[in-house]
Amino acid sequence: MTAGPSGRTPSTTPTGHASDAVHQQHPGEGLPRCGRPLTLSAVASTRPTLVAVSAPPVVDNALLAALRADLASADFTVDAVADSLGPVAVAALRREQAIPAELVTRDRRDPLSVLIRLLTLGRPVASGDVDVALPTLGGDGLLRLGLATREDGQVRAACDLRPHADEFRGWWVASDLSEIETGEALHERHVLGIGGASMTLAAWTIRRDVNRALDIGTGCGVQAFHLGAHCRTIVGTDVSERALGYARFNAALAGLELDLRRGDLFEPVSGQRFDLIVSNPPFVITPRVEGVPAFEYRDGGLVGDGIVERLVRTVGEHLEPGGVAQFLGNWEIRSGGTWQDRWREWLSGTGLDAWVIQREVQDPAEYAELWSRDGGCHPGVEGFEHLYAAWVADFAARDVASIGFGVVTLQRPKEARAPWADLAEVTGAVAPAMGPVVEAGLAARTWLAEVGAAGLLDTAWRCAPDVTEERHTRPGADDPGVIMIRQGGGLRRSVQADTAVAGLVSVCDGSLTARQALEAIARLLELDAAAVVAAALPTLHDLVADGLLVRD
Ligand SMILES: C[S@@+](CC[C@H](N)C(=O)[O-])C[C@H]1O[C@@H](n2cnc3c(N)ncnc32)[C@H](O)[C@@H]1O
Repeated sequence: MTAGPSGRTPSTTPTGHASDAVHQQHPGEGLPRCGRPLTLSAVASTRPTLVAVSAPPVVDNALLAALRADLASADFTVDAVADSLGPVAVAALRREQAIPAELVTRDRRDPLSVLIRLLTLGRPVASGDVDVALPTLGGDGLLRLGLATREDGQVRAACDLRPHADEFRGWWVASDLSEIETGEALHERHVLGIGGASMTLAAWTIRRDVNRALDIGTGCGVQAFHLGAHCRTIVGTDVSERALGYARFNAALAGLELDLRRGDLFEPVSGQRFDLIVSNPPFVITPRVEGVPAFEYRDGGLVGDGIVERLVRTVGEHLEPGGVAQFLGNWEIRSGGTWQDRWREWLSGTGLDAWVIQREVQDPAEYAELWSRDGGCHPGVEGFEHLYAAWVADFAARDVASIGFGVVTLQRPKEARAPWADLAEVTGAVAPAMGPVVEAGLAARTWLAEVGAAGLLDTAWRCAPDVTEERHTRPGADDPGVIMIRQGGGLRRSVQADTAVAGLVSVCDGSLTARQALEAIARLLELDAAAVVAAALPTLHDLVADGLLVRD
């Protein structure tokens, strides 16, 4: 990848959609998980505009070189845009509110402000100002690339273009214009830019160096670009030719080689295997009834949570031994059942290790509200009630009591062995960069599955530096009633410990094995050593799996 915009604050995007922190996509924080923050400028009906959609921008290497040079010289980067707009306007854009950014840039004519107004806010800009902001490409070049149109001396963006960065490098991402740029509802073939869900998946993706990686539902290429930092070859698939057109354009602008293929899920890579597969799939559960739009960017076209089930059941065929797949998803939780029931059913027979973290649960009404709003349909808008009722009826027809959302990590074991499964609920804030946490957690869980209880007990553990202990004691009591072991980073786990486990953690400095420490603690407490060891085992397992206790 050639040099692009750089960013001091790695995975933040300057304008709007994404955030650097995984928890910013969480319930109550207002970001739908398929990618787009909530819409504020809804003017939609339930039937999205069926106007002819524009073609994606054109790949012309000479013009792209000129564009790249001009964007770089205007400092159209994550950090410079954030500095130029200021924190209030940036935060407002994250909520899809463009007015503060509009006010900040309204009277400015410097190249950076002109580019922000034109390409990220979708405002018309005087032709002369565009020529000054893009001295090499000029307004004419922008038109020839299909990035803008011109009328009456005013240039208007035909696509959204914004800077993006990871911790190593920056680039630019073109996608369809958003609602804040057009003031109109999205069409069903809308190609999403960088969304909240895109950033969640990017933050949770392991960043090991691998040979072959696959991005299913690549869209305009967001995940594929992040993979570019650590994967030798990257295949991106999508059912949408328009999305692939954007990905092709973005790759050419960045100088990144992507193997882009059109088709349904794994169909374009039939018979092929990868070391790492990622997907922010179109997981939104959508009623299949008249009047409910099927947005390509969020709806895989199957009934219920079928798209996620298909991914789970088929991804193993495409993983190399030791290979990992990571994706986001929604899953239906039936009345009287648990979310883990659904997952055990899906995983059965796959042979894959599974670490599924449920991050949020919604009831059918909350789900209907969230995804109606995401599609631009709000209370008061025609068709809202119909749409809402369709969602509720669809869930009722399958006896769905609630819908889970989470992050899925599946691993094909390197050698033949029984797979492990960890189905955990973590609804609070987690570390901003979860990739290293997932990588360490995969290694710990795999090690635990291989060595069993004997290996766990015969290892000398060390307490991780971010672990603290909290004791709660009733006034006047000699002993604490509750002891909590807390993790500062990672999944920010809190584990309630009994006296023996608390004692064990307090002596974990790498000198005694867990068995030696527990037996000594049992002697001090005048308890049966075998019983103390057996009782401590499950908590010890969890402390190791989540990295509160580590090996030297
Ligand atoms: C939520 S967007 C994700 C885009 C991008 N990967 C990201 O992380 O922001 C889902 C993408 O999946 C594509 N898609 C929808 N149905 C698909 C299918 N059956 N097979 C492959 N891709 C599909 C859509 O066109 C869209 O680009």
